Amino acid sequence: MSIDFANLQHQYQLYKKEIDARIHGVLNKSNYIMGEEVAELENNLTRFTGAKHVIACSSGTDALLLAMMALDIQPGDEVITTPFTFIATAETIALLRAIPVFVDIESDTFNIDASKIDSVITDKTKIIMPVSIFGQPCDLDEICSIAKKNNLKLIVDGAQSFGSLYKNKMEVHYCDIYTTSFFPAKPLGCYGDGGAVFTNNEGFAEKIKTMRVHGQVKRYCHKYIGMGGRMDTIQAAVLLAKLPHYEREIILRQEVAENYTRQLPDSIHKPSVRPDRTSVWAQYTIRVSDRDEVRNELRKKGVPTAVHYPVPLHQQECFKYLNNEKGGYPVSENVASEVISLPMNPYLADSDVQFVSELISDLVES
Ligand SMILES: Cc1ncc(COP(=O)(O)O)c(C=O)c1O
Repeated sequence: MSIDFANLQHQYQLYKKEIDARIHGVLNKSNYIMGEEVAELENNLTRFTGAKHVIACSSGTDALLLAMMALDIQPGDEVITTPFTFIATAETIALLRAIPVFVDIESDTFNIDASKIDSVITDKTKIIMPVSIFGQPCDLDEICSIAKKNNLKLIVDGAQSFGSLYKNKMEVHYCDIYTTSFFPAKPLGCYGDGGAVFTNNEGFAEKIKTMRVHGQVKRYCHKYIGMGGRMDTIQAAVLLAKLPHYEREIILRQEVAENYTRQLPDSIHKPSVRPDRTSVWAQYTIRVSDRDEVRNELRKKGVPTAVHYPVPLHQQECFKYLNNEKGGYPVSENVASEVISLPMNPYLADSDVQFVSELISDLVES
């Protein structure tokens, strides 16, 4: 017996006809760069989120760069973020020669601890950039009010949370700019790299659209320093075929998560979702003290697992220059040493969830 972690092949087989037809449409037109499918996708994403503006782009990483560039981030500016995330969140801040300032996380949701943000704000702080980790929105109301009070901009890195709800609305409605990733294994993934930027602010949207094509306002006239950040038409075509199924897939992911939560033993730390929000369950991540042993035993029984993330960003070699001490972010460090992500996809059978849960019960209770 062997379980597939993300099961992208099953999903392709389910929607093969629509996906193939969409891809062939692009091949037959050869409109590979900024073909009409990109604008069609942006329209559909606008409808899906209720955002006023959507700009499709080349990846979730480039979406973060575009968002910060549109807010005119300058070298030496400080951006407050979490150390418990994928490297791209802080790497993009550093690439723009700004300074990532880390704030520790909550031990139950793994999201940034909003109550600790105030204490790191300085006169160099420009942006707060939380992440909605593993698919659950961070404390948007609290963080938004801290940003407003201190005249800061708020970008939400929603690479893992696209489609989740905070107080019944999508996250874009609580921040200046929301970004996401369509990396294949994300809850809504394309078949290569892709991402998008969402905003209700027309000025930011215009700037991001321009910056996506090298700051070009008309052919070979460049108003801003921008980048090559376009989404490929073929990736837009894949997403156009998959988006109509996404709402249903979110529900299926939520059912898988509920199933895990019901069947896993109460003696381990299971992920919890705050009552005023929903998760799209990019990952179902538990905490156990003897992680390596649990992973090994699961692997032997054909159950793949992953560790998101084993080393918090303040301890990464590339951020040594920030002089963040080990021990400075105790919750992140603790969590990073214990987390295991279990197989999660909309098609995971009840019997697979039961199998994994029983194995874990046996391991932690033996
Ligand atoms: C939190 C977070 N931010 C940013 C990214 C970057 O997205 P991409 O891989 O599409 O560049 C990812 C994706 O892995 C992510 O998980």
